[in-house]
Amino acid sequence: MTAHKIAVIVGSLRQASYNRKTANALTALAPESLVLESLDISKLPMYNEELDDTPPEEWVIFRTALKACDGFLFLTPEYNRSIPGVLKNALDVGSRPYGKSAWKGKPAAVISVSPSAIGGFGANHHLRQCLAYLDVPTMAQPEAYIGDAAKRFAEDGTLTDESTRKFLGEFIVAFADWVATVKG
Ligand code: FNR
Repeated sequence: MTAHKIAVIVGSLRQASYNRKTANALTALAPESLVLESLDISKLPMYNEELDDTPPEEWVIFRTALKACDGFLFLTPEYNRSIPGVLKNALDVGSRPYGKSAWKGKPAAVISVSPSAIGGFGANHHLRQCLAYLDVPTMAQPEAYIGDAAKRFAEDGTLTDESTRKFLGEFIVAFADWVATVKG
């Protein structure tokens, strides 16, 4: 069985991020067919097309890492009913130069995590809108809106809510199937 390398992209820079904690829980739950590797988006300079004649080293490293992986797992907070700017910047950096997008054609899944009850629905779907344009085949079901996040983790970041663990376990297995389907 070939293991697929999946870049985990978290749209929060907080040390104590619930999205990061969820990503960590998923890494422990992933089947052997997926190798999850976190990609850092915190150091990417803001996208400016004029810089792309001689792109910043951080952009080159990020694009190379995206091209080396088989798919993407996004975890996003919701900021003002959309995705955080740092995540949008990462999407933009990876999408250029024009015609050389590092996102195109690779399978992805989206999870939104929020302390609010709605679970980041707005951000989840704004991200899906970008991914549709970027020609990223994104898993439709199961959807993942993790609300009330503060109640689901212990102080040390451990996932303590069993129903969330069960859901995430099913989610990551469904994603492994989706990756296998898209990658053929
Ligand atoms: C938020 N937060 C928030 N939450 C939400 O459910 N819907 C929203 O529209 C917003 N808007 C928003 C804007 C800004 C600028 C901030 C800083 C925060 C709260 C947000 O869900 C909360 O800070 C989460 O803890 C962020 O995710 P991480 O960092 O825990 O992964």
